[in-house]
Amino acid sequence: IIMDGNGRWAEQRGSSRSVGHRAGAKAVQCVIEFCLESKIECLTLFAFSSENWKRPEEEVSTLMKLFLRMLNTEIEELNRRGVCIRFIGQRSDFAEEIRLKMHWAETLTAGNSVLHLNIAGSYGGRWDIVNACRQLVASEGPDLTPERITESSLGRHMALADQPEPDLLIRTGGDCRISNFLLWQSAYTEFWFTPVLWPDINKTILQTAILDFASRERRFGLISEQLRSVVP
Ligand code: IPE
Ligand code: IPE
Ligand code: MG
Repeated sequence: IIMDGNGRWAEQRGSSRSVGHRAGAKAVQCVIEFCLESKIECLTLFAFSSENWKRPEEEVSTLMKLFLRMLNTEIEELNRRGVCIRFIGQRSDFAEEIRLKMHWAETLTAGNSVLHLNIAGSYGGRWDIVNACRQLVASEGPDLTPERITESSLGRHMALADQPEPDLLIRTGGDCRISNFLLWQSAYTEFWFTPVLWPDINKTILQTAILDFASRERRFGLISEQLRSVVP
């Protein structure tokens, strides 16, 4: 989910963008609740992009404080509910205090499997691809010849390579773009856009997105007839 629209939500109320981000954090709890109830196994939330660092210092600082607060207050409950937490993105961009909490949250919840909750922070799809290239080169050493670079060998080093590719990408806030989210992973993802601003998200809207998704035919490059013939 690309959780977009916090700033506009606040502006509409004559409040500062920080107020919108705080409301957005509450909405995160609603979507996690929905996933647990609906038995959705993987959820990736785009919380902060590699480009969001360029926002005004004050806003970045608010977002970091909010992030730290969420780490301090939510993790134990998520752990109790069987949520496995992972952070994807350029970890070294964050302050040490946040990095330590991220590591603690991942370690604490590593054995859980009810819901895999991935938080994308300082994440960019292009960063992910470059990072995967670097890891591939580092792992293969001098043995790396052009032929050894394949979709599967490079894909193994992308974020979330051990999880299924996303089936559905939801973006709130009315803009119909990917904004450098999971570029590699979303090659065959279904997209669903809504003008609803992120703090206004609710379970009914999420249900609508899922129903829409369920009605689509995913052809993966094939034609409908071929899909029908592979039904077991
Ligand atoms: C999304 O809301 C939250 C982050 C990007 C951190 P925005 O802050 O982008 O809200 P709008 O798009 O300006 O309304
Ligand atoms: C995308 O929202 C990033 C997150 C939701 C974290 P942005 O608000 O940064 O995207 P643009 O700038 O409108 O493309
Ligand atoms: Mg935005």
